[in-house]
Amino acid sequence: MDVLSRPLIDRTLPLLAEGYAWLPNRMRDTPGPVVRTRILGRPALALRGPEAVRFFYDERNVHRHRAIPEPVLATLFGHEAVHTLDGVAHRTRKSLFLPLLEPGRIAGLVDRVTAAWDEAVPAWSRRGSVVLFDEASTVLATGAHRWAGIPLDDADAEATARDMTAMVDGFATAGPRHLRARRARSRQEERLGRLVGDVRSGTVTAPAGSVLDLVCRHRDADGEPLDEKTAGVELLNVVRPTTAVAWFVAFTAHALHKWPEHRAPLADGDMRFTAAFAHEVRRFYPFVPFLGGLAARDLYWRGEWVPAGGLVMLDVYGQNHDESLWGDPYAFRPQRFLERSAERDELIPQGGGDPGAGHRCPGEGITVGVLEALAVRLARTEYTVPEQNLTIPLHRVPTRPHSGVLLSGVRPPAVAP
Ligand code: HEM
Repeated sequence: MDVLSRPLIDRTLPLLAEGYAWLPNRMRDTPGPVVRTRILGRPALALRGPEAVRFFYDERNVHRHRAIPEPVLATLFGHEAVHTLDGVAHRTRKSLFLPLLEPGRIAGLVDRVTAAWDEAVPAWSRRGSVVLFDEASTVLATGAHRWAGIPLDDADAEATARDMTAMVDGFATAGPRHLRARRARSRQEERLGRLVGDVRSGTVTAPAGSVLDLVCRHRDADGEPLDEKTAGVELLNVVRPTTAVAWFVAFTAHALHKWPEHRAPLADGDMRFTAAFAHEVRRFYPFVPFLGGLAARDLYWRGEWVPAGGLVMLDVYGQNHDESLWGDPYAFRPQRFLERSAERDELIPQGGGDPGAGHRCPGEGITVGVLEALAVRLARTEYTVPEQNLTIPLHRVPTRPHSGVLLSGVRPPAVAP
């Protein structure tokens, strides 16, 4: 039977049921790293591998406009966000985020986040136990706001962090988690849209050169400033994912619990090992399952076909666990990144390609920098991990250790890190 006449049963339900394992399972059943299927009523082609990354990020093949379903826009990214743009409109909007790649900006954020962490840990000590995921998200939201020049009262930090994580937690489900995510987004878009209005009217001053300042002054490809709602959406596209580094902090604690031999080199401040550890956390643990765009024209990949307008999916989780790239993909082994570098189109937890030219995450340097700093702090902190459910269910997207990683008897390091 040729590819065109193969029946294509819609696979949206198995996807929702199997989560991270769905595409890798389908890939195992096919001779090459490509799967032809049907998702959300559209014919779809799923790819993986460094060459597939280059194919996927070539705008002549795949575009993003109208590619992201409304429930994902209404929770995770926001309507009219940079994620939804192509061509000149995308490049112009993306220029707003490219300064986030500068080492000086990354260092500034790392300083703010580590200061917030050091302020918070003594209070964790006074409590019997804390859920690390929740505490880390509050620390990250606090640090991100201070660095971005966005006012946030300490009293509001926890609720704001809960909104940030809710938007990520609820994008891929129906039901209460999804409704929570929609409400969180409306609340935060309204808060930040109002702030943009206040800055522009002179009621509030944005620190010169801060993210808030850049967003308020940005002009899109049409020469117009962002309307208040879209400006709020893009401010959220900085503070929300920075807060979401809490997922990787929880995974870090999980890794240190399961493989305690990694604690000493982190605590000793071995910088090469710390960088390798951060990459391995991002590779090994499940966060982004796959990425999607629409075929800009009829496309063929490795003999499989998808018509113009069909869905093209990049199998992110599958590629980060592809035996042909990693050898022993299901072993947590930071040393692999001492033996080899993290190649641009091989390690793709935050997308592939060039962040300046395509949709790759502009926050990768921030994520790695913050994760390194917090992994070292966690390794230097004394605590116990009481009996709890640390399983990471692969059918749940996004997933995390079930308990959020409960820590008890937290004792800050005697000497400041
Ligand atoms: C895009 C993952 C942290 C800002 C993306 C994409 C992924 C991703 C998979 C989409 C790539 C694509 O569509 O091809 C992550 C993960 C993070 C993280 C797992 C860790 C928690 C950050 C941070 C920031 C950020 C810290 C900013 C401070 C963005 C923006 C985009 C994006 C603005 C849209 C880029 C575009 O469409 O051109 N991220 N990200 N992310 N990320 Fe991140």
